[in-house]
Amino acid sequence: MFITFEGIEGSGKSTQIELLRSSLKEEGNAVEILREPGTTQLGEKIRDIFLEKTNEKVDPITEAFLLYASRKHLDQNFLQEHLKNRSIVIADRYSDATIAYQCFGKGLSEDFVQYIHEKSGLLSPDLTFYLDITAEASKARIDDRELDRMESESLDFFNKVRAGYLEIAKLNADRVIVLDAELSVKDLQDQIFKEVKSRLDASLG
Ligand code: TMP
Repeated sequence: MFITFEGIEGSGKSTQIELLRSSLKEEGNAVEILREPGTTQLGEKIRDIFLEKTNEKVDPITEAFLLYASRKHLDQNFLQEHLKNRSIVIADRYSDATIAYQCFGKGLSEDFVQYIHEKSGLLSPDLTFYLDITAEASKARIDDRELDRMESESLDFFNKVRAGYLEIAKLNADRVIVLDAELSVKDLQDQIFKEVKSRLDASLG
């Protein structure tokens, strides 16, 4: 099973991923975690390039090519192998992020992203948790960090990214579960685990 977590900065994805990993492991499941861009050696180098602040302009097409180079490499060197071995793979972001950030946030064509996704022969997640938080709350939560290139984007940008995620969730209601990121860590943890358990039980027949 391939599970992804999505949400704008400061939505609490990492905490929930870690909690889900421990709960699934406690029940005897093999679990692998990945982050995008990144995870592989090549992917982590792309991540550094992608997030590094620069005075040069970075077009969303340039971003998409960097992201898809990392994504294809991850698929070939990590994702396919672990799914074949029946591990549960939990991703900290995946392709919905490209639609939300590059397409909704920066105006890149969705058809273009869908085209490179399909032509690269990439998978789609089985289940996605989208942790919804307002752009204002997100900014407040990350204010004390040193911000990377993407985190330094405007409030207007993050409003567009959030609207993108909500639209993706609406169009993929069977796959994407929208959660209120302002709920307590425990409430979120319980809802997420319940949903994963019910899908796992259903897949076992
Ligand atoms: P994070 O993993 O620390 O959240 O940082 C990854 C950053 O990259 C985050 O700002 C979102 C951005 N990103 C995109 O813009 N498009 C993508 O497809 C992915 C995977 C990430």
